[in-house]
Amino acid sequence: MTQNTHSLDAVLGSVQAPAEPCVLVIFGASGDLTKRLLMPSFFNLACDGLLPEQFAIVGIAMDDLTTEHFREKMSTDIKQFSTRKTFDAEKWDWLCSRLYYTQGKFDDNAAFARLAELVAKLDQQYQAHGNVLFYMATPPSVFGLISDNLEKAGFKTNSAGWKRIIVEKPFGTDLPSAITLNKEILRYWNENQIYRIDHYLGKETVQNILAFRFSNGMFEPLWNRNFIDHIQFSVAEAVGVEGRGGYYDRSGVLRDMLQNHMFQMLAYLCMEPPSSFAPEAVRNEKSKLLEAVRIMDADGVRTHTVRGQYGPGRGPDGKPVPGYREEPSVPPDSRTETFAAVRLFIDNWRWQGVPVYLRSGKRLWKRGTEIIVQLKTPPNVVFRGTGVESLDPNRLIFHIQPDQGIELRFQAKTPGPEVSLQKVNMRFDYSQAFTAGRSVGYEVLIYNCMKGDATLFSRTDLVETAWRIAQPMLDTWKQDAADFPNYAAGGWGPKAAYDLIEKDGRKWIEVLNRETLEKVPLFQGAEPQLLSSLIMALRSVVFQPGEIVIRKGEIGRELYLISQGEVEVLDDAGHVVATLGEGNFFGEISLLTASPRNASVRAKSYCDFFMLDKSDFTRVLHDRPRFLKSMIEIAQQRYNVSGEEMAASAP
Ligand code: BG6
Repeated sequence: MTQNTHSLDAVLGSVQAPAEPCVLVIFGASGDLTKRLLMPSFFNLACDGLLPEQFAIVGIAMDDLTTEHFREKMSTDIKQFSTRKTFDAEKWDWLCSRLYYTQGKFDDNAAFARLAELVAKLDQQYQAHGNVLFYMATPPSVFGLISDNLEKAGFKTNSAGWKRIIVEKPFGTDLPSAITLNKEILRYWNENQIYRIDHYLGKETVQNILAFRFSNGMFEPLWNRNFIDHIQFSVAEAVGVEGRGGYYDRSGVLRDMLQNHMFQMLAYLCMEPPSSFAPEAVRNEKSKLLEAVRIMDADGVRTHTVRGQYGPGRGPDGKPVPGYREEPSVPPDSRTETFAAVRLFIDNWRWQGVPVYLRSGKRLWKRGTEIIVQLKTPPNVVFRGTGVESLDPNRLIFHIQPDQGIELRFQAKTPGPEVSLQKVNMRFDYSQAFTAGRSVGYEVLIYNCMKGDATLFSRTDLVETAWRIAQPMLDTWKQDAADFPNYAAGGWGPKAAYDLIEKDGRKWIEVLNRETLEKVPLFQGAEPQLLSSLIMALRSVVFQPGEIVIRKGEIGRELYLISQGEVEVLDDAGHVVATLGEGNFFGEISLLTASPRNASVRAKSYCDFFMLDKSDFTRVLHDRPRFLKSMIEIAQQRYNVSGEEMAASAP
């Protein structure tokens, strides 16, 4: 029995051994990052047995705290920010007893001397082998200062053990400042000591991109311009700037999300297979991929990019929220973009000619990060003469967050004597396949750094290459006027983003889920199968105030559901006969009666619509008679059209 337990330990141990001994020093330990993300990550690592016994943490910051105070404060905060399902008090006590604090300003030599003394003492006490990990939870402007003072305090000359440094983004605010910052850090540290954190690389779903691509034989052969039509990266946030207006206004979404998190995901998705998972092998391939991204000139920026800023609208709870310019610490004439959509091209053999679309924004209709790989549409010759008018391309969707999974969308024959197709999917969900607890995302990064594995961290060249891609956008956007605000908070984003992709004959794929659909009154309480088929069928469209959405006399090809905004129904003379708002729908009569549109509809404000193509509409109605019935009833009341007339032509 004992022997078995031991061998089991050995097996488990070889898979997940605790990280290397060290004293971890956090600069800026009294800030938000420590309590919200770092401490919960250390706690998770401790609970999972991934921290060594030879471990201690020293917090240093300007606040006048003692070690006792620091421990008390962290013990209170952890209750709020821990991600564990149950709180393991014993494990917390273990970690808490290893927390120390020393007060000091970053320009105070005496404080660094005290720090050196404390670290030396703890190194002895915990047998940390002289290993020290410095975590810079501070603005980059003090990285140089801190490094200089660490050197003066003798941390570099003490040759026993390793010394590593973790730095947080932003790594510069543009290409020149990134080059300067890198030079400054490299004056004190060797590249192999520097661990630049991008917290997206701590996400399991992001790490899984490489595992998925290179451990499965099925997709990698298709992973190139011969089979892939285009790729979309969408990072939508429902929140606004959350009290960080001052920081955000100097940043904007390009610096805040695209240049780092999104380019990292792009590199993972599109890079060549590395020769191994050795850190440099992976980092070389990522770097090569970003180097192949076409650098735009000013005209290119105007053609291939769109930016936006949110105006007033509604928040995730449906309540009114102010526009970006009304947020605290944001100037009322701010030209900072809170949304961007970009079309990139990768000039290498694998991806030549395959557009990659990226979009991200604050205050959008949902929180969700997805990567969509759209394959080329097959020819539909075989289906000539059947009711199938067009084929839908296969899509592989990486659900990064909050839903975590991978989905493949394809078409299947609808049961019955006729040849008709329905969009269906196969889906792998993390929550069903794995029992792992919810992590903060920093655990794996800190753990890997403590083990000296730099795979998940950005190298100097990668950071600079990413800025090189972003720089022309920064320059051109600075120079050109911006027509802001151009989207409503809580909506789909600016209309121009739709034009950008639609000009190429493509469309954004909105990834819906049940919760979002159930907010639409028409679908409340709908049966699960109906919601599942709508999830794959609904599209999103945006209209600006004054734009005609449907025109009287035209043949109806789609149904519109108003997600946000108001529309006016016009009579022949152009007078407004009705106004429809959120939760309402229009365009159904022409589909139900197979006759031309009987009225024109104009957007009264910014409007975000769900849109259902006629073929999907017909199929949904065909499969769901209850839904058909309620739609006919609403249409009857609204337009006084006879039920027989509709039922006769309805599917
Ligand atoms: C940060 C940005 O890097 O990432 C924030 O500064 C953003 O503005 C956040 O909200 C998004 O992270 P996540 O993990 O919630 O997608």
